[in-house]
Order: sequence, then structure tokens, then C-alpha cells
Amino acid sequence: MTDTFAARVREMNADAPASAFVEVFGCQQNEHDGELIRGMLADMGFGFTQDAALAKVVVLNTCAVREHAEQRVLGHLGAIGRAGGSPGRIVAVCGCMAQLENSQNTLKRSYGHVNLVFGPGDLARFPELLYTALTKGGRHFNQSDPTAPPEEGLPVLRAAPPRALVTVMKGCDNFCSYCVVPHTRGRERSRAPEAVLGEVRGLIRQGYCEIMLLGQNVNSYRPNPDSAGIRDFPELLAALASLPGDFSLRFMTSHPKDASDKLFSVMGAYGKIAPFLHLPAQSGSSRVLAAMNRGYTREHYIALTERARAAVPGLNLTSDIMVGFPGETEDDFGETLGLLEKVRFNSLFTFIYSPRPETPAANLDGVPPPEVVKKRFARLLETQKRIEATL
Ligand code: SAH
Ligand code: SF4
Ligand code: F3S
Repeated sequence: MTDTFAARVREMNADAPASAFVEVFGCQQNEHDGELIRGMLADMGFGFTQDAALAKVVVLNTCAVREHAEQRVLGHLGAIGRAGGSPGRIVAVCGCMAQLENSQNTLKRSYGHVNLVFGPGDLARFPELLYTALTKGGRHFNQSDPTAPPEEGLPVLRAAPPRALVTVMKGCDNFCSYCVVPHTRGRERSRAPEAVLGEVRGLIRQGYCEIMLLGQNVNSYRPNPDSAGIRDFPELLAALASLPGDFSLRFMTSHPKDASDKLFSVMGAYGKIAPFLHLPAQSGSSRVLAAMNRGYTREHYIALTERARAAVPGLNLTSDIMVGFPGETEDDFGETLGLLEKVRFNSLFTFIYSPRPETPAANLDGVPPPEVVKKRFARLLETQKRIEATL
């Protein structure tokens, strides 16, 4: 099906190839989806331009994780609209924002030049959706099926070596109370181990030597039970690390409630697995962690990092920390600073809580006042900076 539509668009491009403009916001998963979008566009006969005004097809692959991310996308979209473009141009918005009803309504109401919208689960339908938009005109709003199986075999236009992004699983079932990702990316679905192994073998042959495995929570990787004897993420990692060739493996993200000693011992046992672990803590307060629905306590988290460090010599440990969650008190925040002092992360990604549509935390009272949050954020950065200087 996809091939038929791709062939029809290719036919339209046969005499004079039109050009496409692709911009990607958000995380590495979105980055990789952008590589698939570029791959499909190239396969449909498009060239690429850096100037949206010259493009026949404009694609914005969006992020909705914080309000600021959405504002950035809307800012770029507004500028693209004001700069104008050729008649019959398609402006497509896909990715996480495209899946949210709230954001779709904003696009419908205030961004009339957007004529194609589709969610992150609809990547494989892109040629069909694009063909329809190109030939029928009008505006097309789609929402993807949150349970659609991970797509296989799509054309891909990757960044040049050394680093290659490889999806191992899609979606998230954790429903942290602040997070929009389960609502945008849908349910957890694991790729078959054979497919991942085949893709990585091909990448090594092409000269990629830094393989980054991607999933919202790689530790809940669960392929079909009869898949090559591989039952979970540590086993997949071990199988990948046993492939011949000169390469290293990294992965993200690991959820602390599912990161296991089995994972740490595989990391310690294979030289091809880089000693890097990104283990988002979010907060150092067990009370806040419970309100976030994270499924672990401060003590569990600390013990986990100790076991990881014992199993993986020279481990580089990084984390995500959020401040200003509803109900976060000075004491809770103090516990977060205490966690930093105790664990001594190699580096941190730091965020200010942002209420998101469709998430339960958005209905919680008690968001600390903005001045308080700003101060806490500055103290968080200062503390981490001081720790990093002594590592
Ligand atoms: N699956 C990954 C995280 C993906 S989002 C994990 O669980 O680790 C990346 C980071 O963005 C999260 O770890 C969190 O710190 C931050 N984040 C997510 N939702 C947020 C929100 N509503 N406000 C502020 N930061 C948020
Ligand atoms: Fe969001 Fe939590 Fe899933 Fe990470 S584990 S993507 S923070 S719901
Ligand atoms: Fe953003 Fe979606 Fe990634 S919300 S962080 S692009 S999973």
C-alpha cells in the first residue's frame, strides 16, 4: 500500500523533482522519526531545501513535552506561514503535538496554512497521507492508532556516521502523572529482536560505530516470547554486544523502577557497551515521586545507583530532574539537592514542571509560585555545577 502511494508521488516528481523542508523538534526518538520522514521523501523523489518558502512539502516533526516546546513549534509555524510559499504547498505537522486534541484544535483554529496533521504512529502512512493532500487539496487531520505495531522496513536517510539511532521499542505505559508521552506515543510495543539485530548489523557494515538504542523505557522491552530466545532488554543488549565489528552501544532511557541488576551485569560484562547510564530520578523526595506515579522511592533509587556503579567500572551516570511539581515544598526540594550530593551525577538535564493537557498532574493544586520555582531551579544548577567541578 505504502509503496503504491510512494510510487504515485514519485511519478508526480518524475519530470521536475520538487523539494521538501523538514524540521525536527524534541527528543532523539523524534530525531530518528525525522530520518524516516526524510527517507520516505527522498524515496518519493523529493530533493531537500533549507528554505521552507521554496519547498513543495514542509514537515514539522513536533514535540509536546513542555509548553515551551509547543510554543517553539508554533513560533516556527507562524514564521513559515508569514514567509509564504508556492501555491499548492503542503505544510504538514506530525510528531507528538499532532496527536493531542488540544494542539490539533489550535492548529485548526489559528494556523490555516497547515493542511496535513498526523500522529507519531502514522509514519508508515505518510506517503498515502501526502498523496491525498497533494491531489485532493483541503485540510487533513488524523490521529494515529496508539497500538499500531512498530513500522519495519521504511526508507531512512540517516545522519552521517559515526552515530546511528535505532528504535528498540515505541510508546510508554508508565503514565507518570506529569507526562504527555504516553498520550502522544501510545502503548509500549517492542520490535522483534531479529529486526533490531539485522538493522544494527547493516549499520556496522555501513561504518556506523556508535549505536544508540532508543525507547521511552528500554527496560520494559518485551518481544514476542518465541523471538530468537531473547526475552528482555539485557538479553537484547548482550546479543547486540556479541556482534562482530568495531562499534559501541548506548541506550536511553532507563526507568529506575525497571532497571535491573541483570542490566548492570550485562553492561559490566561486554566491552562494546559504553559505561553510560541515563537514569532519570525526577525528584529526591519519595512523597513527590509517589505523586508523580514514578513507582520507586528515594531509597530505591539511591540503592540502584550504588549497584550500577559496583557492577559497571567507571560508570558515567546522568539523570533528569524536575523542579516545581505541584505540592513540592522546600523540604521536598531540599531532598532533591540532597540526592544530587549523595549520588554525584556526572551531568544532569534539568526542567521546570510544565502542566500538560490530558495529564492528571495538570489538575493538581499547589504549583509553587514562579519566583520560588526560579530560585529552586537556580539552586539546582548551582549545586550540580559545584559537584561537577569536584568529579
Ligand atoms: N521516558 C523518559 C523521559 C522522556 S521526557 C523517562 O522516563 O526518563 C524527558 C524528560 O522531560 C523527563 O525525564 C522529565 O524530566 C521531563 N518532563 C516530562 N514531562 C514534563 C513536564 N510536564 N514538565 C517538565 N518536564 C517534563
Ligand atoms: Fe513520560 Fe514517565 Fe513514560 Fe518517561 S516513563 S515517557 S516520564 S510517562
Ligand atoms: Fe517530545 Fe514526544 Fe520526544 S513529546 S520529548 S518528541 S516523545
